[in-house]
Amino acid sequence: MSFSAGWLELREPYDLRARNTAVIDAVTAALAGRPSVTIVDLACGIGSTFRALRPRIKSRQSWRLVDNDLSLLARTPQSSPPDINITTMPLDLNLDLEAALDGPADLVTTSALLDLVSDEWLERLAVEAAVRRLPVYAALSYDGRIEMTPADAADGKIAAAVNAHQRTDKGFGPALGPAAAKAAVERFERVGYSVEQGNADWIFEPKDRDIQIEMLSGWAAAAREMGDVPLPEVIGWLTRRRDLVAAGRSSIRVGHVDFFARPTATR
Ligand SMILES: C[S@@+](CC[C@H](N)C(=O)[O-])C[C@H]1O[C@@H](n2cnc3c(N)ncnc32)[C@H](O)[C@@H]1O
Repeated sequence: MSFSAGWLELREPYDLRARNTAVIDAVTAALAGRPSVTIVDLACGIGSTFRALRPRIKSRQSWRLVDNDLSLLARTPQSSPPDINITTMPLDLNLDLEAALDGPADLVTTSALLDLVSDEWLERLAVEAAVRRLPVYAALSYDGRIEMTPADAADGKIAAAVNAHQRTDKGFGPALGPAAAKAAVERFERVGYSVEQGNADWIFEPKDRDIQIEMLSGWAAAAREMGDVPLPEVIGWLTRRRDLVAAGRSSIRVGHVDFFARPTATR
């Protein structure tokens, strides 16, 4: 599955605003006092997590930005202040997760990835991180909550279709979709991690027209692909919702969860 740089750019400010600050504080506190840290960002896209964390970490930083999309990797930050070192790693995480984690690392990060992966891959991530005793910061896993205001009679059907679509294969086997965050926390706890988690919801206000239109179009496409909602109903719903956006009357909340998983001291 591919993601356009335009979409990642559009969502980044909303992601930044949504990221759970208590979870980020826990991440930065865990790294505090180290002269240097090495961070591996899995499925980095154009570098959203790098930009979110970089200013909050006071140590010298080395980042390994990993993605299988070369055009996105090419748009990651190429130059940085002298105390920051960035390398990109083109790699298919479904095939080569272990290669991404090998080598020096103090922290693994990821954002908007876990809802794309399968239960099996998630288990692999937890085990491979645990073997290397790596803390993991995973931001912005979609959790299935969609709230649209004002309500439309077809919202529920469309949201159900979107959540069904979320579970289809995104390149890692059947995706966990909305179940990902809960499953991930359980997986990490099972391999001996303590996990701090919190909501990181997108909140789109009436003025956030571009992202609302993009989101609604994506949801309509997902509903169309699933085929459970008749096409005329999908079109009618999208037309009504777009009219509300154009009139400056639409708000949308999309539920996400952030967590920071730390290996516990004993072993
Ligand atoms: C929703 S985007 C999130 C990007 C970025 N983390 C962010 O928050 O903006 C998902 C990312 O996963 C990457 N991705 C998807 N499948 C992958 C795979 N098999 N191996 C490596 N990266 C993959 C995509 O290229 C994309 O950059």
